[in-house]
Amino acid sequence: MKNKHNSKKSVRENSRNITENPYITPVYAGRWDTQPIEKNVLPQDSMPSNVAYQIVSDEMNLEGNPALNLATFVTTWMEPEADELIKLGATKNLVDEDEYPQLKAIEDRIIKMEANLFNVPDDCVPTGVTTIGSSEAIMLALLAHKWTWRNKQKAAGKDTSQPNIIFGADVHTCWEKFSRYFDVEMRVIPLQKNNYTIDIDEILPLVDENTIAMGVVVGTTFTGQVDDIKAINELLLQHKEKTGQNIPIHVDAASGGFVLPFFKPEFEWDFRLEQVRTINVSNHKYGLVYAGMGSVIFKDESDLPPELPFEINYLGGSMYNYSLNFSKGSSNLLAQYYMFLRLGKAGYQDIIKAVMTNAQYLEKELAASGFFEILTDSNYLPVVVVKLIDDSAFDVYQISDELRKYGWIVPAYSLPPNAEETVVLRMVVKENFSRDLADKLLSEVFTVIEQLKNNQTSKRENKKAVGQIEQTGQVKQKIIHGTC
Ligand SMILES: Cc1ncc(COP(=O)(O)O)c(C=O)c1O
Repeated sequence: MKNKHNSKKSVRENSRNITENPYITPVYAGRWDTQPIEKNVLPQDSMPSNVAYQIVSDEMNLEGNPALNLATFVTTWMEPEADELIKLGATKNLVDEDEYPQLKAIEDRIIKMEANLFNVPDDCVPTGVTTIGSSEAIMLALLAHKWTWRNKQKAAGKDTSQPNIIFGADVHTCWEKFSRYFDVEMRVIPLQKNNYTIDIDEILPLVDENTIAMGVVVGTTFTGQVDDIKAINELLLQHKEKTGQNIPIHVDAASGGFVLPFFKPEFEWDFRLEQVRTINVSNHKYGLVYAGMGSVIFKDESDLPPELPFEINYLGGSMYNYSLNFSKGSSNLLAQYYMFLRLGKAGYQDIIKAVMTNAQYLEKELAASGFFEILTDSNYLPVVVVKLIDDSAFDVYQISDELRKYGWIVPAYSLPPNAEETVVLRMVVKENFSRDLADKLLSEVFTVIEQLKNNQTSKRENKKAVGQIEQTGQVKQKIIHGTC
């Protein structure tokens, strides 16, 4: 089917032809403040704190409802105790290690807990840092691979000007960002019409002595599927034995890193595999903290070249910093520490099990409706991705648009090359998505489909009627008048 919505305009673009009102029109704050407040100019005068608060919170009423947002993987609810710690953490800059040594100690504990969760072998000394999200974590890991490769090439007196990295088209944009921003050729394995993860037969033809790393994903952004990491590890081990080329694997576990250890602990995707040297995870996804935190874990200190972290002394004392930005709050760090202590392994297991059960239920019911083909495997990630079995009358973009009227945010999109013909709906199931919400969503999906089907039928019938009318000149004229 032709992807007629590929050029779909965003809400922002659509509203461009509406003349923007230059003044804020507060809702409840209007009770206190009657002066017009300019939107784009710093106000000349101050205002009382309650008025400013009300204006800002009024604006938030214009947003979607996070509880009905199935587009995002990111946590949308935390306990009140976590909210208190978030306030506490907001007052402390995480990089001020000398002033706040306990924050650094907590960060180190979190990294160690995660390394342990990802089964780091006993003879390794893992290290890592917390980041703003998985994008920063991935870039830090891949930079380390670039440096390691360069050091190796230099030591062997070889060219260092043309590094490359291999990954599938199933990766998140941040992988392409890394390649472009840090000047590393990307060798992308395209998807196929019916296979949305890496085809391992495509890997070795792309490998050479300039390959800095192989990227794989557990929980792809597009379908929530998992690359066959075990087979890829095996392939690279054999390649190492044959050629001496040692290609490290970076695992993007943004979504799967806090799901698989609890739901499928026996599934080997992590540091148990020899070639896996670095892993990133999004704490703000199934780590169950709000947006703004990821982690990168190096299997062993030797995987992070010592030239990369900066030694800094101007904050008092001496500290090492490895990050792309510098200052950041400590809110999420404290929130994550709280969650680890609060839930423990058993708590995460219970939550993830409930989330997976709801995802599997949603998947089963959508499949049973006869309208959808399921593209995901909710045995691994609580993500449900479907395509229409018959999209001749209406498409997933229309379903997504109609669901929006009920408050649901369910994105529709086309898959990456060479599977772009496949257009899908994605539902990310999170802790706040209860069985009741699943039933409500299902009922509204089916209502929307009935409406779209009826619209199509009435459009077809209208067309037929117009055809009949047009055969009689008299009525044709009526129609012409009617349209004026
Ligand atoms: C698989 C994967 N990797 C990386 C990212 C980027 O993560 P972040 O938004 O935390 O930078 C995402 C985002 O959803 C993702 O799904």
